[in-house]
Amino acid sequence: MIRSQLTGIGAYLPRTLVSNDEMAKRVDTSDEWIRERTGIRQRYFAAPDESCAFMATEAARAALADAGVDAAKVDAILLATATPDQAFPATAVRVQAALGCGGFGFDLSAACSGFIYALSMADAMIRAGQVRTVLVIGAEVYSRIMNWEDRGTCVLFGDGAGAVLLQAGEGDGSHADRGILASRLHSQGALADILYVDGAVGQPDKPGHLVMNGREVFRHAVGKLAETVQQTLEASGLTAADIDWLVPHQANMRIIDAVGRKLGLGADKVVVTVDQHANTSAASIPLALHAAYRDGRIKRGQLVLMEALGGGLTWGSALVRLG
Ligand code: UT7
Repeated sequence: MIRSQLTGIGAYLPRTLVSNDEMAKRVDTSDEWIRERTGIRQRYFAAPDESCAFMATEAARAALADAGVDAAKVDAILLATATPDQAFPATAVRVQAALGCGGFGFDLSAACSGFIYALSMADAMIRAGQVRTVLVIGAEVYSRIMNWEDRGTCVLFGDGAGAVLLQAGEGDGSHADRGILASRLHSQGALADILYVDGAVGQPDKPGHLVMNGREVFRHAVGKLAETVQQTLEASGLTAADIDWLVPHQANMRIIDAVGRKLGLGADKVVVTVDQHANTSAASIPLALHAAYRDGRIKRGQLVLMEALGGGLTWGSALVRLG
């Protein structure tokens, strides 16, 4: 059978690092509050020349270089973002032009779950035989939609981009195969108003700022994430004990710890970058994957479980044996 093998990983972080202490000069907060409630120590903010498309392109270039694949081979670019540079064209086609590749590209909007959604879509297209080589990118510039009057949200987010390359390969259908073994997606629109942006291009007086009822999102997060992860494991005939690494969405250390505990995974199997990057929404999983891959913790052939929850509400998970 066809498997979507993950053969390259890349990332881009903006040049400007902002510590909690620097945030405290801008809003009524403290390093202590941010660290204790979230685990965040710092974040990166994009400069005007570091657009969503620019960061996505840099991450994509790095993923292609890691895989040793030429951009000319790319059939499709799926780019998950809630902060595109323009309503249209899609940021993905700007990336396509910058890389000089053919095929097609489009953006996908599922907030913090966007990378899992894009990975799952790309996997379906590869297994259907429609494409063979796909860049899956998560890229965000949340600093553009932050409400600086709301200390409850503006301290939580950062900017950045991460990318992976998926390539069609052969597998025997067992969980020993390399590639995406299973994924699960969910949304619950009835919960849309606990995490949203209060504006859009169609609302000229409202450019849009992020609004979140953090307690409500938190309340839903652990149960929903643990449930989707179990479904993905069951679909692959595996258990949490088989997992080499959990690479969760990086929103809050307390959520990451709670999901890890529910799965019975030790902290040594959970990749954490929320302290370094804060919450970069759709970019957070590929950024975390890249960090642990680059420093040698995550190796090719290992089994990696990813999960995310975000505005929508949307949530989902994917299980991948790295190629
Ligand atoms: O990626 C998308 C998914 N998003 C998430 O997963 C986020 C989920 N939610 C959370 O991570 C947490 O709910 C937060 C980190 C957002 C907030 O933590 P919390 O423990 O739920 O705090 P809270 O909102 O209940 O606020 C507690 C107190 C309040 O003061 P009072 O009313 O107790 O006097 C806030 O006014 O902390 C205060 N507070 C702050 N204090 C200093 C809120 N923000 C800040 C701040 N600095 N930045």
